[in-house]
Amino acid sequence: MLFRQLFDQVSGTYSYLLASRRGGEALIIDPVIEKVDRYLQLVRELDLKLVKAVDTHLHADHITGLGALRDRTHCITVMGEQSQVDVVSMRIAEGDRLTIEGISLDVLYTPGHTDDSYSFRMADRVFTGDTLLIRGTGRTDLQNGDPRQQYDSLFNKLLKLPDETMVFPAHDYKGDTVSTIGEEKQFNPRLQVKSVEEYAALMNGLNLSNPKMMDVAVPANMRQGLAQEQVAARGWAVSAADAKALVGRSDIVFVDLRERTERERHGSIPGAVHAPYPALQENLAPGGVLHELSAATGKQLLFYCAFGERSAMAVQAAQDAGLAATRHIHGGMDAWKKCAG
Ligand SMILES: [Fe+2]
Repeated sequence: MLFRQLFDQVSGTYSYLLASRRGGEALIIDPVIEKVDRYLQLVRELDLKLVKAVDTHLHADHITGLGALRDRTHCITVMGEQSQVDVVSMRIAEGDRLTIEGISLDVLYTPGHTDDSYSFRMADRVFTGDTLLIRGTGRTDLQNGDPRQQYDSLFNKLLKLPDETMVFPAHDYKGDTVSTIGEEKQFNPRLQVKSVEEYAALMNGLNLSNPKMMDVAVPANMRQGLAQEQVAARGWAVSAADAKALVGRSDIVFVDLRERTERERHGSIPGAVHAPYPALQENLAPGGVLHELSAATGKQLLFYCAFGERSAMAVQAAQDAGLAATRHIHGGMDAWKKCAG
């Protein structure tokens, strides 16, 4: 496995680049916008294809690199379903798996620092965001934080992992890079409490000042969505209401770009072809299923995904590949489900 722990000195943020092999798909956790050039250079040097950019939660101390990475690599942006961000490509929840080629992370909902905090677990390590830090825990006084929820996330989820599990947090301000669950249980001063009440009293008594960047970072991080209006202005978008009237039409093929788990949870459009977004370039190239489907039948491809981000990028890619008869459903399955009828 390729594993890189990358550091932003200004905010004390750790970002993690993961891939199963050179030349393969890559995933990045908690990227920082100022470091995007560095990440992309590393991605090129290691001959990787960045397919997912994930934030453990909505950050208050730096601006996320999610939007910039999506704009520059067309990767999928991922956050938890509770997150206040306007649009991400994909939302995840407790029990999901976050997957790329050769790597699968268990998704753990670990609220408390914020109400949208997640941790991601592999066999030997866990990425804990700001839920569990090295010899500390993330503050619980901002962004719908809750010390009682955090106690539950810590004691009933993260600390139940095997003691040897490596802990990789989103921040460190002392220069520590990694710990283990067993070490944190024993030496983390915040975890030496006997009850949820004691933990809540400890956290509520911290009296911390607000992060320097907070007034800038939080609003910026809530607006990460791709501007789907540009795609609409070119005539490549169909509203969910109009798309419903197109179901069953013989000249149109609905193409679902989501992953299997998203289809299982949120349902699908009857008759849609399933062509997950990470394989889009292959599918659009001559000989690929979407290219041949379009060429052989002359049908219009109508892409859709969860919120319209992947499908908007897919329309652009299809147009670039010479498939002029392609559009997408503006707002994706989310808009489809909100649209009555
Ligand atoms: Fe945070």
